Amino acid sequence: MADVIDGREFGLKVELAVGVVGLGYVGIATAVALAQHGRNVKCYERDPEKARRMRDGNVPIFEPGIEELFGGCVATGSITLCQSLAEVLLDSQVVFVAVGTPPASDGSPDLSYVDQVATEMAGVLQLGQVIVLKSTVPPNTYHRVRLTIEREHTRMQLPPVDFDVAVNPEFLREGQAVKDSLFPERIVVGVDSDRAAVALRDVYAPFDSPIVLMDTVSAMLVKYASNCFLATKISFINEMARICELAGGDVSEVARGMSMDTRIGQQFLRAGLGYGGSCFPKDTVGLLSIGRSLGYEPEVIKAAVSVNARQYVVAIDKLVRLVGQLRGATITVLGLAFKSDTDDTRESVSLKLISGLLEAGAVVRAHDYRTVENARRELAEVAYFADPYEAVVGCDAVVIATEWIDYRGLDWARIKQLMKGNVVVDGRNLLDGSRLVGLGFRYEGIGLLDHNEEESLRSPHD
Ligand code: UGA
Repeated sequence: MADVIDGREFGLKVELAVGVVGLGYVGIATAVALAQHGRNVKCYERDPEKARRMRDGNVPIFEPGIEELFGGCVATGSITLCQSLAEVLLDSQVVFVAVGTPPASDGSPDLSYVDQVATEMAGVLQLGQVIVLKSTVPPNTYHRVRLTIEREHTRMQLPPVDFDVAVNPEFLREGQAVKDSLFPERIVVGVDSDRAAVALRDVYAPFDSPIVLMDTVSAMLVKYASNCFLATKISFINEMARICELAGGDVSEVARGMSMDTRIGQQFLRAGLGYGGSCFPKDTVGLLSIGRSLGYEPEVIKAAVSVNARQYVVAIDKLVRLVGQLRGATITVLGLAFKSDTDDTRESVSLKLISGLLEAGAVVRAHDYRTVENARRELAEVAYFADPYEAVVGCDAVVIATEWIDYRGLDWARIKQLMKGNVVVDGRNLLDGSRLVGLGFRYEGIGLLDHNEEESLRSPHD
């Protein structure tokens, strides 16, 4: 494929309209980013009620800044919510497919939504259109979409249409979706034709980000590799945390020392209760299943998954040691979302921890700044509170399960008075352990030095 390609050669429209199919997290962020960069974006969401609410500017996800931006784009007409897929395809040269790919029972991504869209598109596809897969899908999905469209064409006895399928994985983080999609660190594009390369370069021309062009299989694997590498980094530091506890070291110091090596970097070295969310758990298991389907057992990823699966148990073990019998004990869990700045509880480690506590016979009280209702739907037998101080009343122990920065600023002296016991298990190493021990708590983080010992060694005159 040539490096520099002239779009006129392919008769591409100067003013590209862009389509986005599926308005979940990725679809909404993609639409907003493209519209903010001057594109005319036509969207289609198959859930009519959701689409209706979005037409009024109501965005069905919590993401700082996105509702205002989306509403603004709808009001100015740079984003249009179409009634049908056909309407989107009528105007758009490039159509991004951002439908969900939830894990099937064997861990492999369920591609039924992608299949549905491909089937529906077949009848309305136009000459030279580029279908861009934004959803995270296995490498062979590219061929699957192409074959589905061609098969449908034959079934409907339509004349063959010359179209392209391309791949453009999304790397945005929940909680930072606006920044990540408006100013991506890189835009990875997988294509198998010059025409698709030109179209995508044109679409992304206003973005001040490097466009990394490659083949479609590699592009899809960049997404899996990035998420699995970050998940492995987290499991690695969590494993180091265990070793630190056994050896008497402090994982935050180990991470600090490691991170000054620019080859290692600072990010994703925060030890804790493990990773959750809709991406890392799905994509690690997804890549495992992709590897296995190709006859290869991905050992490193398998280890990352298994370290993560038992990481929340570390908090339960600490509670058993510090509180004694969990049966009948009251434990307050602070944080329900899978990470801070989101209301998302999908694969949240906090909910796994709560299930474990309930199984052990504990009474659980819980708080989150954003997502009490989401959690209530999954775990009804928990007392939920919108106020963290109310949540801790009468409890034997508090566990920090989500890294909400606000927990750091709570009045911990007041919390101590409200609690029955004095145990804090800081599952996200968020609090100042020495300070809490100074307030009379028995404090343990994940892989940290034992501040309780420091306090007991201190002379009364210190
Ligand atoms: C992740 C990736 O970071 C994005 O680049 C990617 O686009 C996205 O998945 C996706 O595939 O859609 P996200 O799931 O929003 O983004 O969340 P992260 O900020 O990556 O955090 C994931 C989990 O790792 C959280 O549970 C967080 O608490 C945990 N984590 C993160 C740690 O335990 N330690 C760390 O040092 C960092």
